[in-house]
Amino acid sequence: MKFTYYGHSCFAVEIKGKRILFDPFITYNELAKSVDVNSIVADYIFVSHGHDDHVADLVNLARRTKATVVGSYELVTWAGKQGIEKTHPMNTGGKWPFEFGTVKCVVAHHSSGMPDGSYGGNPLGFIFITEAGNFYYSGDTALTFDMELVPRFAQLDFAVLPIGDNFTMGIEDAIIASEFIECKRIIGVHYDTFGYIKIDKEKAQQAFAEAGLELLLPDINSSIEL
Ligand code: NI
Ligand code: MN
Repeated sequence: MKFTYYGHSCFAVEIKGKRILFDPFITYNELAKSVDVNSIVADYIFVSHGHDDHVADLVNLARRTKATVVGSYELVTWAGKQGIEKTHPMNTGGKWPFEFGTVKCVVAHHSSGMPDGSYGGNPLGFIFITEAGNFYYSGDTALTFDMELVPRFAQLDFAVLPIGDNFTMGIEDAIIASEFIECKRIIGVHYDTFGYIKIDKEKAQQAFAEAGLELLLPDINSSIEL
């Protein structure tokens, strides 16, 4: 599966010829200046929650690409009011068979207000179960025992977890999360973008390695094969 990192918690995967983008926040990310937001293509945009650092580029990208926006009922209702025509509402615990595979929504312990102050519904994590592989994107979340359910739903090939601390899990908690979800290959996101979430990348990778885990930190605007 091709995985492209656009900085912060924004990434894309390609499955069965469909391009799936997550949590678009590029234009206002000082670290993502190399990314041309106007050249990004997407068939689907999955949004974990309503905070600015996950939706800042959502409306423009969805309008231009005509991608289907998937997120909580409240979030996609908000997106609809911004003129986005193709949306798919979901909520915690629900799953749906999309054309590229099945997605199950799971608990994320966080908050979710939209940029205009309206309620964003529950923050979500997503488990993707596909012929090209299975992965979990936790969204912004604390470490939670709910993650122990993840292996019951899917054997993961990789997981995308926040590691920046302050707003979400930090490195220590993400290592425990990796044990809960029974996954040894982790892609770290939600770090370095702002002052509160700057990390020492080498130390982070060392801590994961000492726990028998692999922490991948792809360069912004680069792709890796998973
Ligand atoms: Ni957030
Ligand atoms: Mn965030």
